[in-house]
Amino acid sequence: MPGIIERFRSYLDLPDGVDPVTLSEGSTPLISMPRLASDLGAVELHIKFEGSNPTGSFKDRGMTTAITAAVSRGASAVICASTGNTAASAAAYAARAGLRCVVLLPHGKVASGKLAAAYTHGAEVVEVEGSYDEALGLARRLSERTSINLVNSLNPYRLEGQKTAAFEISESLGAAPDWVALPVGNAGNISAYWMGFRQLADLQGGDLPRLLGVQASGSASLVEGRVIDHPETVASAIRIGNPARGEQALRAAEESSGRIIAVPDHAILDAQRDLAHQGLWVEPASAAGLAGLRSEVEAGRLDLSGQRVVCICTGHGLKDPHVPAGPTTLIQPRLQDLEELLNL
Ligand code: F0G
Repeated sequence: MPGIIERFRSYLDLPDGVDPVTLSEGSTPLISMPRLASDLGAVELHIKFEGSNPTGSFKDRGMTTAITAAVSRGASAVICASTGNTAASAAAYAARAGLRCVVLLPHGKVASGKLAAAYTHGAEVVEVEGSYDEALGLARRLSERTSINLVNSLNPYRLEGQKTAAFEISESLGAAPDWVALPVGNAGNISAYWMGFRQLADLQGGDLPRLLGVQASGSASLVEGRVIDHPETVASAIRIGNPARGEQALRAAEESSGRIIAVPDHAILDAQRDLAHQGLWVEPASAAGLAGLRSEVEAGRLDLSGQRVVCICTGHGLKDPHVPAGPTTLIQPRLQDLEELLNL
C-alpha cells in the first residue's frame, strides 16, 4: 500500500527527488457511527480512526514527511519532545531511515506503550524533570545549536504530512464534512487539517468544514488565553500548557467559523468508554473530539441536525492502557461452573 507521500505527492510541499521514508501510513478508515450519532441529534457521524496508522497515531503522517525531508537535507540525527506518540513515531521512522533519534519526555507523564515503543525502535530516551513545554524548549534550543533536526510539529514538514488526513476525508465523503472535531495539544494537527481543507477548496472548489478544537479543562491554555504552568488531565497526550502552534490554531478555528473549547476529564473518559462500546478503543486524548461535540450540543451551543460530522480519533488505546482492567472471575475448567457463572 502506498504511503501518504506517494499518494499525495503533487499536493505536498516537499523537497524533490527523494525517496519517501515510509511505513505505508495513512489510508486510515472512516467509520460510520450511527449509534453514537443519536446522542447528537439527526447527525451523520463518522470517526476517522488514526489509531490504525503503523505506530498507532496520526503522527506517522507527519513523520514520514519530516524524516524524508531530514534525509534529503543529509541529517544524521533527529530530536523531538513528546507526550509519547510523537516519540514513538519519530523513533520508528528514524529507525527506518537509519538515523539517530533522541526523544525528550516529561518524566513520569508518558503512557507505558508509547515509552516502550520509543525504546523498542532504538531511540535514545531522555526523561526531563519538568513539563512537556520545558522539554520542547530544550529540544528546540539543541536543534538550533547543532545539526540535529527537530521533528516536532514546529517543523513545517510535519504539517505537510498531517494535512493529508483532510484529503482522505474529503475523498471518502465526496466533499468536506460540515464539522470536524479533534483534540488540541500542541495545536499542530488542527492547523494541518485547516491547511489541507483550504488547499482542496482552493484547487477544487467546494465548502470548508467548521473546526471544533477540544482541549482538556486542566490544560486549556487557548480557551483561557494564558499559559498553563502545571497542565493536568487524564489525557496525557494533550497535557500541554503552552501550545507551540496555538496562534495558528486559534486562527484556523476562527477562519472556519468554528471554535476551540475545553471539556472536563470525566467527559473525555465517558466518550472513550462509549467509543470502546462501539468497538473502537482510542486513547483518552482521542476521545476529546466526541466529548467536545456532546458538550456543545447538550449546552445548546451547537445544533448539528442534518449535518455531516467527522471526529478525529488520533491514537489507539493499546498504547495507553491506563484504564485498569475490570474485575474478572476465576473458575475451574468445568462447564457447569461456567454455565452457573453466566446464569445459563
Ligand atoms: N491526540 C493524540 C493522541 C496526541 O498524541 C496528540 C499530541 C494530540 C491529539 C494533539 O495534537 O499536538 O497536534 O495538537 N501529541 C504530541 C506528542 C504532543 O508529543 O505525541 P497536536
